[in-house]
Amino acid sequence: VEQVNLLISDLDGTLLGDQRALDEFKSWYVQKEDELRIVYSSGRFLESICESIELHGLPAPAGIICGVGTEIHDLMAGERVADWPSCRQTWSAEAVRAVCATIDSLEEQPRHLLSDFKVSYYGDDLTEIELARLERKLESLGQDVSIVYSSNRDLDILPAGTNKGTAARFLSERWSIGADRVIVAGDTGNDAGMFCCGFRGIVVGNARPELKSVRGTNVYHAKLHFAAGVLEGLKHWLGAPRAARVTADQAT
Ligand code: GLC
Repeated sequence: VEQVNLLISDLDGTLLGDQRALDEFKSWYVQKEDELRIVYSSGRFLESICESIELHGLPAPAGIICGVGTEIHDLMAGERVADWPSCRQTWSAEAVRAVCATIDSLEEQPRHLLSDFKVSYYGDDLTEIELARLERKLESLGQDVSIVYSSNRDLDILPAGTNKGTAARFLSERWSIGADRVIVAGDTGNDAGMFCCGFRGIVVGNARPELKSVRGTNVYHAKLHFAAGVLEGLKHWLGAPRAARVTADQAT
């Protein structure tokens, strides 16, 4: 079992959003490189993520999770994980799109944001009831899906069991890093999946209400925004003795 810690962080609105805060994060990270491995997890796809890494001079990641968990790149092994998403038998992007095309309140996102395993729309202020109705409709047609709604606007429909959380768990297990050594960070609904895997979580200060409402002993709510919030959370989790944190978690 590896003794390094792993940070799995969202980009837009989490590490990205305030360049000065990011610069501070980067200078801190230079000292920690050997003990803290980084993975970026975004709703965007590889090319666009790599452009951001370059543009903002982000630290080199050990892995990249794209498309809200639908695509995993293990950069330590130098490969895209081939057998992911794992549940594909009951998924057809075409069938999902056909159903959604009949719903007036949904507008398909631009092509470069879509893939065979990620069907995404813009839909303002969708309610829990509307989302549940959509899920039932897809289910009745044999489509086993995972529905992720973020920022009161972005609707992602993915194969069942696929989200940023299950992708994060896949990578940490592949690298034999125990859940108690994994720290996740995010700001919106598509990050919520990462907060229920037994990992330590950081919710940045500027997070949307849907992520702010995620509570628990393993969730740290930073006061600071963007990368400064991530840094605040990392100092919190890495500062406390690990064994004590695990005990505290088990006590609840
Ligand atoms: C990113 C993606 C978009 C997705 C959203 C929420 O903005 O580009 O497709 O809907 O994240 O997951």
